[in-house]
Amino acid sequence: METKILILEDYKKSGVISAADAEKIKIAADIIRNGGLAALPTETVYGLGGNALMKEASKKIYAAKGRPSDNPLIVHISDISELESIVKEIPEKAALLAEYFWPGPMTMIFKKADIVPYETTGGLDTVAVRFPSHPVAMMIIREAGVPVAAPSANISGRPSTTSGEHCIEDISGRVDAIVDGGSSDIGLESTIIDITGDTPQLLRPGAVTKEMLENVLGVSVTEDIALKGPLAEGERPKAPGMKYRHYAPKAPMILVTAHSKEDVCGISKKILELIKTKEAENKKTALLCSEECLNEIKNDLDRLAESIDIKITGSRDDVKGIAHGLFEYLREFDSDGIDYIVAEGYSEEELGQAVMNRLKKAAAWQLIYV
Ligand code: TXA
Ligand code: MG
Repeated sequence: METKILILEDYKKSGVISAADAEKIKIAADIIRNGGLAALPTETVYGLGGNALMKEASKKIYAAKGRPSDNPLIVHISDISELESIVKEIPEKAALLAEYFWPGPMTMIFKKADIVPYETTGGLDTVAVRFPSHPVAMMIIREAGVPVAAPSANISGRPSTTSGEHCIEDISGRVDAIVDGGSSDIGLESTIIDITGDTPQLLRPGAVTKEMLENVLGVSVTEDIALKGPLAEGERPKAPGMKYRHYAPKAPMILVTAHSKEDVCGISKKILELIKTKEAENKKTALLCSEECLNEIKNDLDRLAESIDIKITGSRDDVKGIAHGLFEYLREFDSDGIDYIVAEGYSEEELGQAVMNRLKKAAAWQLIYV
């Protein structure tokens, strides 16, 4: 299939949607309304959008991603008034969270209304809904005039795409159009919270943190089993997508983290030790770490080998920066032909919980605590 590449030149330069950009957005919106697929930028990651109310469109989304069809899609809206038409009821807690965090990087689970086809919800009676804050995403959904089902725009199993280039690299030829609106601000997928039961439950951590949710709700939020460790045989996470290895670079990865969040020295020592072992085995190793960690071991690394592929996530104090670049680095390791990746772990507070969740999954829960 030939994919129309729609680059929003002006928006990428200035953050303002020009008339020329709006024309391109309209092309994508028309495609979606008529049952085709268009990838679009959002503030979290790129989405692979289709008309959420057309079962044929949802089927096409699964095919384009190579995704198992029991893994439900998130339905995106561009106005809070659209919510009523796609859900059976809006619990009080959901209305409260919507008021605080929408538009934004939060997805909530609702009982679905009949007009939402089971093809969109992976056979479930619930539907995941998000109202994104990205101006381009909002405009596409509004112009399409229908809610837009959109999983992350990556081939199933690869890290989500966070730039136009990566989105084009992954799904060009599989969709009718790709709208390139530059780099995604947050870089990690939305927080998913289930408010259908008595106790709110976090299904996937994201930029709306557990702490933020608890502050607004005034009650504690529990965590789904998928967040706690590798799933045992027969264990099922509430968000079906969380059972997949996802976010994974091709090479095996090990994550080194600390019980005390200040212990960058302990982490660095362990990282150096692992790299030495792998170098001795003649493995091409890569290191994903902070500036602080690299400073601790830089001299030793220089002496050890020139071939180590080092990617700096930024400062340990800048969790937003780490989140923003994470998937890009994981992707780059794939093109660099690496045998083994050693990664530094961070504090799991606030946004750190989402960063660590993606890192743990990328490492298939291969974790060392120092
Ligand atoms: O930030 C995001 O959420 C991005 C952008 C494009 O909005 N989308 C995204 O979609 O990450 P996806 O399909 O890659 O991840 C959706 C997750 C999956 O783990 C899926 O199982 C879960 O949401 N999910 C969807 N509907 C659900 C439902 N009814 N109940 C429980 N989990 C659901
Ligand atoms: Mg995804």
